[in-house]
Amino acid sequence: MLASHNKGKLAEFAGLLAPFGYEVRSAAELGLPEPEETGTEFEQNAYIKALAAAKATGLPALSDDSGMCADALDGAPGVYTADWATLPDGRRDFRIAMEKVEHLLREKGALTPEERRARFVAVLCLCFPDGEAEYYRGEVEGRLIWPPRGELGFGYDPVFQPDGYDQTFGEMTAEEKHGWKPGDRQALSHRARAFRKFAEARLGVS
Ligand code: IMP
Repeated sequence: MLASHNKGKLAEFAGLLAPFGYEVRSAAELGLPEPEETGTEFEQNAYIKALAAAKATGLPALSDDSGMCADALDGAPGVYTADWATLPDGRRDFRIAMEKVEHLLREKGALTPEERRARFVAVLCLCFPDGEAEYYRGEVEGRLIWPPRGELGFGYDPVFQPDGYDQTFGEMTAEEKHGWKPGDRQALSHRARAFRKFAEARLGVS
């Protein structure tokens, strides 16, 4: 059971777990409420989400707390990445969020690729109904580009170009963005890197 209401994340986890014969059931599908993410660290918010789902269902739950951290913005938006896209009526608009990041980068005079360094971070939390928890963290380094490129993926994917690639995440298929296959030691995205650690610990991947 995946303690998430985020459709982009759910689609990625469905793809990552499919080779192991698991189907993903989301917190939204199970009618679970979305807890308030009050933490200031990815680990704290991941725990809040996974614990709420594990307690509500009596089953182990896996959550993902993730975000984008820009060096020139002292790590912002970080744990507030989703909030920067949230409109007053509660809907999310990532075009507006990407424009906000771009505006702030320009205000800081961050114009060169080096000044526009950023990373995506994902922390997965596997939590049991008794509150015991395990954490798996993945990060991917890259830079923020403008204008956005690509219609694939979700969130801030169109403005993030990982190191060593000419494409943004928004121009990659899910498989390319994961860069990961069972049995391979490689993974590209922050989520796939965190998932690899989870798979090694819990799904018998060596
Ligand atoms: P959370 O649901 O509070 O963890 O919010 C994480 C936010 O970070 C998401 O809503 C996305 O905006 C952003 N994010 C996390 N992972 C990715 C990704 O793989 N691509 C693009 N945006 C991401």
